[in-house]
Amino acid sequence: MTLVKMKEILEHAEANQYGVGAFSVANMEMVMGAVRAAEELRSPLILQIAEVRLKHSPLHIIGPAMVAAAKAATVPAAVHFDHGLTEEKIREALEIGFSSIMYDGSHHPLGKNIAETQKIVAIAREYGATVEAEIGQVGGSEDGSVDLEVLITSTEEAKQFASETMIDALAIAIGNAHGMYKGDPHLRMDRLEEIHAEVDIPLVLHGGSGISEKVFRKCIHHGIRKINVATSTFNQVVNMVNEEAPFHNFFSYHESVIEAAAENVKRHIRMFQSDGRVEEVKAYV
Ligand code: 13P
Repeated sequence: MTLVKMKEILEHAEANQYGVGAFSVANMEMVMGAVRAAEELRSPLILQIAEVRLKHSPLHIIGPAMVAAAKAATVPAAVHFDHGLTEEKIREALEIGFSSIMYDGSHHPLGKNIAETQKIVAIAREYGATVEAEIGQVGGSEDGSVDLEVLITSTEEAKQFASETMIDALAIAIGNAHGMYKGDPHLRMDRLEEIHAEVDIPLVLHGGSGISEKVFRKCIHHGIRKINVATSTFNQVVNMVNEEAPFHNFFSYHESVIEAAAENVKRHIRMFQSDGRVEEVKAYV
């Protein structure tokens, strides 16, 4: 298979009532681990990196690796630019070949978020790329640098935002937060249900690390199609490498990073029920 549009993966998930993980990666080993997991479980895959992470993993290096891995994968894979903040970096990702981008204008008032998102949609369309945008405010922050409070997405605003921006996927805030949750996350299923009834594009749940299988299933039942997972993969890699340390050989360390990333990705693929879907998705896209 090859690089596909995220829109097509999400549409298939919508038609068949399952979720697809968007797995954050920071280096080549993590990219390889995510692809290995998806290939083993025959699941469609979304590989992603957020703009705030580029200080560790420069886009001109990690981006081409992600696109190359997606192209060579035996499963349909999309490459997504997560939490795009600047037009400059979004354009760079599109030039590299990302098939999907997120513009995050959720910190702006609604009118400005709509106007800025519309500009990015026009740019992404030149490349045939999928666009995700956010309304409301997911708690925490992608790299943990600030602790934003959760602002629950309003159903009315979600409806207006989706119709005026013509985006392909909508990230909503229903009590979800980036990073590990302090206690059990309390997600507003009532609000998710309402938004799903009013907005007819796939919905995205950020802050996937630490949510239980039962809650994921409920979210999927009520319309979540893309689920972002970052922290738990980073933690799994660190924990597994620490357990297996000391390494006396670089290449066994390298394999351990790949395997740790693959394990966390596989665990989520199973919870999201995207395993075993490759043949149907291939026929669809
Ligand atoms: P977690 O780090 O909580 O998994 O969130 C990931 C995310 O939403 C990336 O956008």
